[in-house]
Amino acid sequence: SETHMPKDKGLDHTLKLLDEGYRFVTNRSDKFESRIFETRLLGEKTICMVGEKEAELFYDNTRFSRKDATPGRIQKTLFGEGGVQGLDGAEHHHRKAMFMSLMTKAGLEEMSAIIREEWEREIKQHSNTEIQIYQAAKHILTQAALRWTGVPYQEADVPEWADQLSDMFEEAGTVGWNHWQARSSRAKAEERIAGLLERIRKKSAEVSKDSPVYHFAMHRDLDGELLDVQIAAVELLNLLRPITAIAVYIDFVLLAVYDYPEEVEKLASEEDIQHFIQEVRRFYPFFPVAPARVKEDFNWNGYTFEEGTLTLLDLYGTNHDPDIWDRPDSFQPERFQAWKESPFNFIPQGGGEFNIGHRCAGEWMTIDVLKTTLDFFVNNLSFEFTEQDLSYEMNDIPPVPKSGVIIKEAQLKK
Ligand code: HEM
Repeated sequence: SETHMPKDKGLDHTLKLLDEGYRFVTNRSDKFESRIFETRLLGEKTICMVGEKEAELFYDNTRFSRKDATPGRIQKTLFGEGGVQGLDGAEHHHRKAMFMSLMTKAGLEEMSAIIREEWEREIKQHSNTEIQIYQAAKHILTQAALRWTGVPYQEADVPEWADQLSDMFEEAGTVGWNHWQARSSRAKAEERIAGLLERIRKKSAEVSKDSPVYHFAMHRDLDGELLDVQIAAVELLNLLRPITAIAVYIDFVLLAVYDYPEEVEKLASEEDIQHFIQEVRRFYPFFPVAPARVKEDFNWNGYTFEEGTLTLLDLYGTNHDPDIWDRPDSFQPERFQAWKESPFNFIPQGGGEFNIGHRCAGEWMTIDVLKTTLDFFVNNLSFEFTEQDLSYEMNDIPPVPKSGVIIKEAQLKK
């Protein structure tokens, strides 16, 4: 039997999405008492879904495609055009493998070591002044991203790199001047990187043959051809930009340290650190939804999905789904002791499989960077928080606290 999906009344809900932000989908799924409903966004019929079974459906490659799923204005700022996010099938697997092959134990350990070194350097330089964690983390992560990928850079250029990379994720959802600023930053960064990749191909730039930048420059597609240099630049930015974006989570880690000192007291083992980090990724909002399009008409649980329909999976809502999480709105790292891990019930960085699906290529790296940072702040540093406005908005992307989280009197422990 066929039923119609509950449908949001009205012509377009884009403004409500901007206003309700991370709660847009769950406000409606609660009202309709349905985890799947239809609405209109940016002038287009759109299906929204939230929940574990719904995530499993969303990540079924036979039913959904990523081609043309991301709005143009997000591509021109956040993702770039022609990158892994919009590929399907064999082409996607092959391109994704280019990313996943970097995420080895050695590669991840190298990143953690760089992060620790950069934090130490930052603290030594600023022990007498206040440190704004969000700004400091962006700087450290940009430097770490350039070092880890092997992109040659001058220390003096790091602030400019940091600004360009963060424009892409800070301003992606904005309109007007900020949107154009983000486009311009992307265009400049792509041009700079495309130039470097060309020089690597012509052997006129010196980079290590083991480095990710070399690997991307020389990557061959399924037909044995080098990637278009512009697309290779987009993919290199798919490493640099989100590494810098880990600053958003670092800010939330420090906010959690401020807000839940009783949980910080409990941190004894590496496992405790891991659970604290997982709870930060579950609890705080960051990446709101993942987009796809229906491949061919199908029915699921009585609902009709029509070919081509834009479909959004609510990542934040699934991480706060009371069917999955007990008291979802309270911060409880211990919940991860008993967590029944599935690829679909905890999806801050997307769900499903890494290799054949679009789950975030950098999830392991993100977890390691956050663990290293929390361990450093809790076990290797003494510091105090200043008086500040730590509130954040549920309709801001990314929703970093206004003050950016400020600490003072930071000293390395002897
Ligand atoms: C994809 C979140 C960090 C590289 C994604 C997706 C999300 C996400 C939600 C899309 C999932 C989907 O479409 O189904 C995040 C968050 C991060 C983060 C919140 C924290 C800062 C990173 C890092 C890297 C990275 C550090 C690289 C080192 C990628 C790539 C994709 C991706 C390449 C595309 C994967 C594909 O389309 O197959 N990420 N990510 N991300 N992420 Fe991340």
